[in-house]
Amino acid sequence: MAKPALTATVVVVVAALALVATAATLAPAEADDPEKVDKWFTTLSHAERKTTRLHFYFHDTLSGKSPTAVRIAEAPMTEKSPTLFGLVNMIDDPLTKGPEPESPLVGRAQGFYASAGLESLGLHMNINLVFTSPEYNGSTLSIMGRNPAFETYREMPIVGGTGVFRLASGIATAKTYFFNLTTGDAVVEYKVVAMHY
Ligand SMILES: *[C@@H]1O[C@H](CO)[C@@H](O)[C@H](O)[C@H]1NC(C)=O
Ligand SMILES: *[C@@H]1O[C@H](CO)[C@@H](O)[C@H](O)[C@H]1NC(C)=O
Repeated sequence: MAKPALTATVVVVVAALALVATAATLAPAEADDPEKVDKWFTTLSHAERKTTRLHFYFHDTLSGKSPTAVRIAEAPMTEKSPTLFGLVNMIDDPLTKGPEPESPLVGRAQGFYASAGLESLGLHMNINLVFTSPEYNGSTLSIMGRNPAFETYREMPIVGGTGVFRLASGIATAKTYFFNLTTGDAVVEYKVVAMHY
């Protein structure tokens, strides 16, 4: 008589433990207090590495009344340089699901890019992807790498992340969807593959 009850209890306890283990390894979107961060690290040895794929469009708008990319620095020779060497733009660019500007917002790209190539265009990207979509709300991924913006595909390293993307590493591949040579406005398709815990 007691045996099925015991089995049921064991099942419940095991299920509860599994739930606790899952909860412990799931990092929150909001920044935790340092003790919780520390605790999260202690659960890592049991955590499985996840791979997340993201697809979105990056809208870099320099022109018009409400630009999201603004020039913050340049060198005396920048305007004479074929690559605008020395130019630094600070950005807070919307990231959307589709290529249209009115497409649903999934996050923002905040940071700066700088023209770091003398002879051919090579942007140094230093950008945080700040997600606001329900799944990844409050989590970030950081890109730091070289973006030869006139090439078809540009591969840039994901060097870290926060929230659900803690300890992320991966690759962001950018491909220009639209570019206005006069204004410099661009819509860029991004595909990201990130490994994290
Ligand atoms: C994302 O988080 C912010 C701050 O906690 C909250 O105000 C907002 O409603 C959340 N958005 C979604 C889509 O969950
Ligand atoms: C590029 O921008 C200029 C200036 O705003 C505009 O006249 C032109 O139509 C745009 N070109 C494209 C392809 O959108």
